[in-house]
Amino acid sequence: MQPLGKLRLGVNIDHVATVRNARGGAYPDPLRAAKIAEEFGADGITAHLREDRRHISDADIDGLMEVLSVPLNFEMAATPEMQAIALRHKPHAVCLVPEKREERTTEGGLEVAREENRLAHFIAPLREAGCRVSIFIAADKKQIDAAAKIGAQVIELHTGAYCDAHAEGRFDDRDAELVALREMAAYAHSLGLEVHAGHGLTYETVKPIAAFPEVMELNIGHFIIGEAIFRGLGPAIQEMRRLMDEARAEVDA
Ligand code: PXP
Repeated sequence: MQPLGKLRLGVNIDHVATVRNARGGAYPDPLRAAKIAEEFGADGITAHLREDRRHISDADIDGLMEVLSVPLNFEMAATPEMQAIALRHKPHAVCLVPEKREERTTEGGLEVAREENRLAHFIAPLREAGCRVSIFIAADKKQIDAAAKIGAQVIELHTGAYCDAHAEGRFDDRDAELVALREMAAYAHSLGLEVHAGHGLTYETVKPIAAFPEVMELNIGHFIIGEAIFRGLGPAIQEMRRLMDEARAEVDA
């Protein structure tokens, strides 16, 4: 078997902005977090500009585009406002996510199958502008087929249900989620889609996902930023990186 390639780690810095915004001031600064993440092994930075601007701000996106040396994965809802912002900045990647104002975090995958037409038109200019278009979806064949059909280059599989089942001790459910994620990663890859994964991943849950040979990138935020309180941001990232690499090496062994 070919040795597995290095798995990329995208560090999501949204929650540095959440803490900053709790006081309405200038610190902690998400740009500083992004630069530290780069220094400690992040292969990319992920930031979600929400419609309600509850964490990342427009100025943060301007700043990230200026200071980053690694690619920015710009998460956004499929709205005209966000499309205009993405077309102005032309980030390396645009990840389309569902957004509901009342949710605490991105709760499910994007419904692509029911919106094929609209989304195909929505992503066409982003692709033309040179952005890699990624779609955040559940491990569901119908949604993966639709993502491929509309011309997305990447899908990001939502690992939230797997992580929640682990955290709540529902291990049969967790294992079933893992099987579905593994099968759908392989299926998406067979259609020529690049496969990423993320949401809710922790030191305890990352390794089984990192071991999927088709997965090229994980995007991880909340746990790393929380862990940074105790270890510092650099060491928190390094430990995640170490576990990801360990999982890949175990498959290769
Ligand atoms: N990937 C996507 C598409 C997301 O929306 C999020 C959360 O913003 C993440 C990854 C990271 O999730 P978490 O912060 O739970 O690690």
